[in-house]
Amino acid sequence: MNKLVVNLDNRSYPIYIEPAIFKETASLLGQFDSGKEFFIITDSNVRPLYGDVLFDSLRNAGLSPQLLVVPAGEHSKSLQVAEDLYTQLLAARVTRQSKIIALGGGVIGDLAGFVAATLLRGVPFIQIPTTLLSQVDSSVGGKVGINHPLGKNLIGAFYQPQLVIIDPLVLKTLPIREIKAGLAEVIKYSFIANAGFFKQLSASITDIINLNDLMLVQDIISTCCQIKAEVVAKDERESGLRAILNFGHTIGHALETVTNYDYFLHGEAVAHGMRGALYLSFLHQYINKNELTRACALIASLEPPAIPTHITGEALVQAMSKDKKRSDKGQLWILLQKIGQYDMNRNVPAEMVKEAIDFILTGN
Ligand SMILES: NC(=O)c1ccc[n+]([C@@H]2O[C@H](COP(=O)([O-])OP(=O)(O)OC[C@H]3O[C@@H](n4cnc5c(N)ncnc54)[C@H](O)[C@@H]3O)[C@@H](O)[C@H]2O)c1
Ligand SMILES: [Zn+2]
Repeated sequence: MNKLVVNLDNRSYPIYIEPAIFKETASLLGQFDSGKEFFIITDSNVRPLYGDVLFDSLRNAGLSPQLLVVPAGEHSKSLQVAEDLYTQLLAARVTRQSKIIALGGGVIGDLAGFVAATLLRGVPFIQIPTTLLSQVDSSVGGKVGINHPLGKNLIGAFYQPQLVIIDPLVLKTLPIREIKAGLAEVIKYSFIANAGFFKQLSASITDIINLNDLMLVQDIISTCCQIKAEVVAKDERESGLRAILNFGHTIGHALETVTNYDYFLHGEAVAHGMRGALYLSFLHQYINKNELTRACALIASLEPPAIPTHITGEALVQAMSKDKKRSDKGQLWILLQKIGQYDMNRNVPAEMVKEAIDFILTGN
């Protein structure tokens, strides 16, 4: 079994990654000596695919599961839905010996994790991520939260799970558009941390997109989780290094904002944002033309939807200036010194940013 550990002193936890490991969930949960009560929080799409199966397998193993289902989609990351979950959990007499299982994509992980972090000042929770994005990114690291009408992810906490169970087999039911969006984050890890991984992805991207070899997919997910686990272990609360995981996200978030969050999937916006960050790295005389071309070719293989033609450079610059992560010291850019090596940089002139945005808008 492929096992990684996120090292955070007494908050350390294992990540298990293996095709078909989902079927072993009941026995993996059996390792907890306290409490047999498990509350599975899932969404309306995942429930018929995996929720009912998990419920039955826990019950057959002598545990006492309950299933709580919320509507699929980003709208469920709200205070209203969190409150409904608090009500259902309290009515079912949840205790701190109970465990909450987040079974679904990043929406469910963030929402169920937030509910777990806040209810009774903390109920233990377990992540079973079922989208590629959640398997390589959101289920590891302990950022949980919900949205506010004034912005995304504004209400939340750092609250680590006790266990993460990742089954690449469940990706077989995921729409290919979601796979490609998740792969943008996968490619991101290769850019910031691992040139060998970039080569591996470039050589096998078509097989990965089509999930032709689940052992390869396991390997890819494992590399991503390893990179993320190392970054999180060094900077759990995002006071420094964790910012490197935002490579491509400054322009990506701006693209999501100007398209009202209803045109791009997150990973698609990040795919375009990474092209911008790569071009900035080129203008900064870090990566050369050849590296820029190879990196952009890998992103292009994900075929992100084109940026709508009415989007202007000015609108993107304005959206970036409102990004919550901007500090008094100026915009922090994550650049690449070369493929596989990040640079945190606050000295990127506005002119260069405009040029990079032109690059992604015009495609050359
Ligand atoms: N906490 C973090 O560190 C972090 C990091 C990145 C993103 N996020 C958050 O993650 C969320 C996005 O996550 P996401 O992309 O997983 O979206 P999602 O949870 O909405 O899932 C995407 C869609 O796939 C469906 N689905 C899930 N698993 C499936 C499966 N195996 N087969 C078929 N359909 C399936 C879902 O019902 C949904 O319709 C955003 O809210 C974002 O803010 C959090
Ligand atoms: Zn992201």
